Amino acid sequence: NERTFIAIKPDGVQRRLVGQIVQRFEKKGFKLVGMKLIQATEGLLKEHYTELRSKPFFSGLISYMSSGPVVAMVWQGLDVVKMARKMLGETNPADSLPGTIRGDYCVEVGRNVIHGSDSVESAQREISLWFRENELQCWEDTHSHWIYN
Ligand code: GTP
Ligand code: MG
Repeated sequence: NERTFIAIKPDGVQRRLVGQIVQRFEKKGFKLVGMKLIQATEGLLKEHYTELRSKPFFSGLISYMSSGPVVAMVWQGLDVVKMARKMLGETNPADSLPGTIRGDYCVEVGRNVIHGSDSVESAQREISLWFRENELQCWEDTHSHWIYN
């Protein structure tokens, strides 16, 4: 079963959006298998965003992401990587449709509230970077028959 890494960024935590964001993934039908509130170190964030290290906004991105705790989560389900990205909206909130998380909750790319893995490979890399195996729960979803046929 596919898994993705989702993180509510420090602005989302400060703005008390955690409950509403978690609720969107629950309502969609995805299964929560890992979640923690964590103050990420610069080292972890530089590794997480290593593909962007040559970008002009990289140092700003690292200070934004380390400015407070983030809610790190792993969600599981059919096509969850792609569907979660749709739920997030575009990188720039200005391009994000209403109904998406970024479309509904933010206005600037540098304060865009949430992260989601961009591919199955990125998801695997990010999950192992942020979580230990024993922090991920395998639990029986007793109503999965109402979500999957
Ligand atoms: P993530 O889910 O956070 O990885 O966003 P993304 O996959 O939609 O975009 P990308 O990985 O390209 O960029 C990572 C993050 O860097 C974005 O979510 C923004 O917070 C930030 N970022 C990207 N482009 C810009 C930019 O042009 N300016 C600024 N200030 N921040 C940017
Ligand atoms: Mg990205």
